Amino acid sequence: MSASPGLVVTAPGGASISHQGSGGLIVREVTLRDFRSYPRLELALEPGVVLVSGLNGAGKTNLLEALHVGTQGFSPRSRSDAQLVRFDASAGRVRLQGVNGETRFEAEVSLGPREARRARLNGSALRSAEQLRHELQALVFTPDRLAVVKGAPAVRRAYLDRTLGRFFPARAALPVEYAAAVGQRNAALRRLAAGASSADALPPWTETVASLGAELVTAREKAITLLAPTFSRCADSLGVMGATLSYEGEPVTVSEYEQRLSRDLERGLTGAGPHLHEVRLEADGRDLRSYGSQGEQRIAVLALVLAEAETLTERSGIRPLVLLDDVLSELDGDRRLALAALVSGAGQTVLTSTAIAAYPMEPSQSLLVSPGEVRSAS
Ligand SMILES: Nc1ncnc2c1ncn2[C@@H]1O[C@H](COP(=O)(O)OP(=O)(O)OP(=O)(O)O)[C@@H](O)[C@H]1O
Ligand SMILES: [Mg+2]
Repeated sequence: MSASPGLVVTAPGGASISHQGSGGLIVREVTLRDFRSYPRLELALEPGVVLVSGLNGAGKTNLLEALHVGTQGFSPRSRSDAQLVRFDASAGRVRLQGVNGETRFEAEVSLGPREARRARLNGSALRSAEQLRHELQALVFTPDRLAVVKGAPAVRRAYLDRTLGRFFPARAALPVEYAAAVGQRNAALRRLAAGASSADALPPWTETVASLGAELVTAREKAITLLAPTFSRCADSLGVMGATLSYEGEPVTVSEYEQRLSRDLERGLTGAGPHLHEVRLEADGRDLRSYGSQGEQRIAVLALVLAEAETLTERSGIRPLVLLDDVLSELDGDRRLALAALVSGAGQTVLTSTAIAAYPMEPSQSLLVSPGEVRSAS
């Protein structure tokens, strides 16, 4: 591999895929064209912990975002493809090569400001770019994800629903199907209240909401059962003792919906069911949303990500790629060390930080980002 102007190649030996770190999703080569602040980038990555450092605004999160786009088909921070394409460029591209467990892969996502994203995996076009996430698994922590602890219950439910989709791919559509059924029932309630339809239009929607709702509660509880013990252990290693993850809510039966019909009709809304249930994150019985410190809230989200990585590894034998953006700030020295111990060794973890020294162990690879460029820091 040779370097050309504006293009920096780091880490020797990237062309041959070693077996080091096998058993995970390992990205070995990243090629970017007109992606965010990168006009052209060709970068070789190592398995293990890849530390990406650089000043504010240098392009660290952009690089992490590219890894997410290339493995999952969408950005964790923007819904707009136009934002991902470099200013003044007409199209952008992310290409990743590496191994997924024991299998080599090559994924490519093309971005245009107007047309839909397109993705290819091992040369074959996918139906949609987001199909990639059924083939390659990556988990991300970004400071925005603190909303999972700090935000409204809906953010936690959405997080749990995405997680259950990763644990049980066959059930991935269930949350959307349930939400659609609730929407249809709400519309039917409003038509009925306005006298625009007869009473027999409602029961079919009530039955669908009750049955999909019961399935959703079961799937959520199963996901929590898988995740909760590992979450507590990860949080504990990161110094938040007695942390628990639990689900609060029971399925609602058709007869229960019938009993509360007058209230639902009055409000034009389905006032009970899993769309209103709570996912609780607590430490020693106290709600982390209300009582957790900034650092504890950060650790709780991080522990969720790491617990999910561990659970997925157990289920599939392949550790997901773990992307940790700006995770070290607000963590004290002991907690940074605990985090480094948790992520070292297995699979591949890409971690950004403004200071190299903030990471307390020797990473497998240390990269330094400056606008448009990435080079080896060692
Ligand atoms: N579409 C784009 N085209 C060109 N540059 C872009 C584009 N989108 C963002 N940028 C630039 O990328 C830079 C931000 O990059 P990024 O968010 O990766 O920084 P960072 O290294 O993570 O910084 P921090 O440490 O503050 O989080 C900004 O200067 C911004 O102008
Ligand atoms: Mg950043």
